[in-house]
Amino acid sequence: MGVMTIDGRKVEFTNERNVLTIIRKAGINIPTLCYHSELSTFGACRLCTVEDDRGRMFASCSEEPRDGMVIYTNTGRLKKYRKLIIELLLAAHCRDCTTCVKSGECNLQLLAHRLGVTNVRFENTKEPQPLDFSSPSIVRDPNKCILCGNCVRVCDELQGIGVLGFIHRGTDALVTTAFGKDIATTECVACGQCRVFCPTGAISIHTDMDEVWDALADPNVRVVAQVAPSVRVAVGDAFGLPKGKSVMGKIVNVLHRMGFDEVYDTTFSADLTIMEESAEFLERVENGGTLPLLTSCCPAWVKLITDQYREFIPNVSTCRSPQGIMSGVVKEWFRDPEHNQGKRTIMVSFMPCTAKKMEAKRPNSFTKGEQDTDYVITTTELIRMINNSGIDFASLEPESSDVPFGFGSGGGVIFGVTGGVTEAVLRRLVEGHDKVALDAIAECGVRGDDPIKEFTVQYKGMDVNICVVSGLANARTVMDRVKAGEANYHLIEVMACRRGCVMGGGQPTRAGDRTKAARTQGIYNADSVAVVKKCDENPMINSLYAGFLKGKEHELMHNTGY
Ligand code: FES
Repeated sequence: MGVMTIDGRKVEFTNERNVLTIIRKAGINIPTLCYHSELSTFGACRLCTVEDDRGRMFASCSEEPRDGMVIYTNTGRLKKYRKLIIELLLAAHCRDCTTCVKSGECNLQLLAHRLGVTNVRFENTKEPQPLDFSSPSIVRDPNKCILCGNCVRVCDELQGIGVLGFIHRGTDALVTTAFGKDIATTECVACGQCRVFCPTGAISIHTDMDEVWDALADPNVRVVAQVAPSVRVAVGDAFGLPKGKSVMGKIVNVLHRMGFDEVYDTTFSADLTIMEESAEFLERVENGGTLPLLTSCCPAWVKLITDQYREFIPNVSTCRSPQGIMSGVVKEWFRDPEHNQGKRTIMVSFMPCTAKKMEAKRPNSFTKGEQDTDYVITTTELIRMINNSGIDFASLEPESSDVPFGFGSGGGVIFGVTGGVTEAVLRRLVEGHDKVALDAIAECGVRGDDPIKEFTVQYKGMDVNICVVSGLANARTVMDRVKAGEANYHLIEVMACRRGCVMGGGQPTRAGDRTKAARTQGIYNADSVAVVKKCDENPMINSLYAGFLKGKEHELMHNTGY
């Protein structure tokens, strides 16, 4: 333990990583652009610079704490220095702020306001760079890049993909892909974490909002929505409601008001995913099938396997994701003239995830050769659509989702967090639904934020070894161990984003630890109040299997290979 003096006050510290963390602990919100607690320290932006009692200036993110340090965080010299940095960054930055999608959430813009930068004295001498629209999930605009390196580090360190890097030096420096290839032609998995960590509008969501507004205005089209579990816990705080509070009822109401004909709940199709995936798992376990079974509901993870671990393709569950199953089932339902009343169906899914945009276009998830999910709108885009509509979201009364695809179990809701899919599978496999049985599952090791969770459960006298992973770099670690014969699992669940879909690449950014925890808790709270906890006890699921789905299970709920 040590003590340092920050702006004249004594502050104790223990094993904090750097001086910056201690300054923040002391309640001083020092500006940063390139520091992120989950990434390695880069020290590029210099905004976190502080001054010591000998007048030495240094970047606090890169300085180890020492007992007895005396530092100042806001001297006249520092103020001038920070303003100059922001001015220089703005000078080299495309400044169409009024029309930028990141306007209002851009850290550079916010810091310019906060630090009082009201004019830029320097000219932008940078050559304009072309934008990259090649990915269905993200758009790259190098003209808005401030070279903080966050995207490079998150892609490499948290996701283990590494498709972005720096080229050239000094004023010619640029973040790009290898050989400047379009991002869609690289091994990018479309997870969108680069966009989450990007402080400006240099990486943004490839949006389909205009197409959805057009569909809503077309009287010959039936526009159907599905809303994923994690969306409902990440919208409310944008409208002044408590962080992590489930606002599914308000979302249903606002979508109806916007003109959606039907609003369904993806927790319903998550139940179908579990019915199919647990059957597939048991079939493989009992009949000597290929194991470990790898979950298939995260498209970024599936892309990693199909690009880089091809020998494990037979291990990937053939089940479609909840998005894919819902869209396949809904499109089939409205193929019946009795249901469609002469209208064409457009399926819009509201997702926390940018990779779902890629999944929707993956031909192996189509039914009868047709794309089932027409448009994927992320939570961030949903918030923009609500703002566009002018509807006062916070004051809306909750409404229930529509039948017959609007009712899911608690097991369907927990898909939103890491471990949720596995927990729902375990609920399906155990007999009974009493609190003791459900609590035992919740406490078997499946819950919590640890990026790699390993545990064993008993099933019919057999030890079932399970691994639950979040973050693709962690998934790589696990798969490399499996490949080397160092780990032996029956089931591996992977979510590409740390903590699961609640922190997906399409969720609102600027989410600190409190928001992360609140979103996870919001999901578990929604499960707690769910009347039905298990997919096989969902009466809507059972009646669907007994009727409409009979004989169509494979066509509507499984992918045609990878
Ligand atoms: Fe310390 Fe950027 S935050 S150098």
